[in-house]
Amino acid sequence: MNSKPQAIIFDLDGVITDTAHLHFLAWQQIANEIGIVIDEQFNDSLKGISRGESLQRILQHGGKAGEFGAEACAQLAEQKNRLYVHSLRQLTADSVLPGIRELLVTLREEHIPVGLASVSLNAPAILQALDIRAYFDFCADAALISRSKPDPEIFLAACAGLGVDPQHCIGIEDAQAGIDAINACGMLSVGIGAGLNGANLQLPSTEFLTWPCLSAFWQNDK
Ligand code: BG6
Ligand code: MG
Repeated sequence: MNSKPQAIIFDLDGVITDTAHLHFLAWQQIANEIGIVIDEQFNDSLKGISRGESLQRILQHGGKAGEFGAEACAQLAEQKNRLYVHSLRQLTADSVLPGIRELLVTLREEHIPVGLASVSLNAPAILQALDIRAYFDFCADAALISRSKPDPEIFLAACAGLGVDPQHCIGIEDAQAGIDAINACGMLSVGIGAGLNGANLQLPSTEFLTWPCLSAFWQNDK
């Protein structure tokens, strides 16, 4: 048994910063414009899902799946991204969720490699805005991923980039699709927030996500 995981791989939106809510606000505005109502509960089903696929789910939710061609969909997705990117201007170093910066500092001290597995094309800009890019040894490139979570592709890409074995890593997620993706590649999963099925460890919020907690979890499970 290894006393430490080979790496810890983070989701971004909803784990490192509260951008999950900003995604919701931007999608809600686009949905309103085309006569579709979405709420926070529906938005949970979009977490970890790519921009294009999220739009398809919204159209389906509103019973308008067949009404928009490829070009119209591309325009709606671009419009949503413009709103979202505009809202990202409010991000500063203080927008990192409680406990996350401290955890990243400790993982550095413990020499544990850290990866990012976000399907967001905006992830690099967000890490820069939060001033935490330097804590990540490898960020999987969402542009090279063809399948959203719950497919494990993005987590496997992060493990490959770090040169680690998924079986010896921990993944951290706030979305059901993300927990399913982590479990599918044999990593140990940590779920943040309520209502996640199948997480190997479930924590109510990022404040509880400390190295002593992760270390105890790792040693109990391995
Ligand atoms: C994920 C979010 O991290 O990134 C999804 O959970 C989002 O809600 C996806 O749709 C893609 O993000 P972006 O920034 O490329 O539109
Ligand atoms: Mg998330």
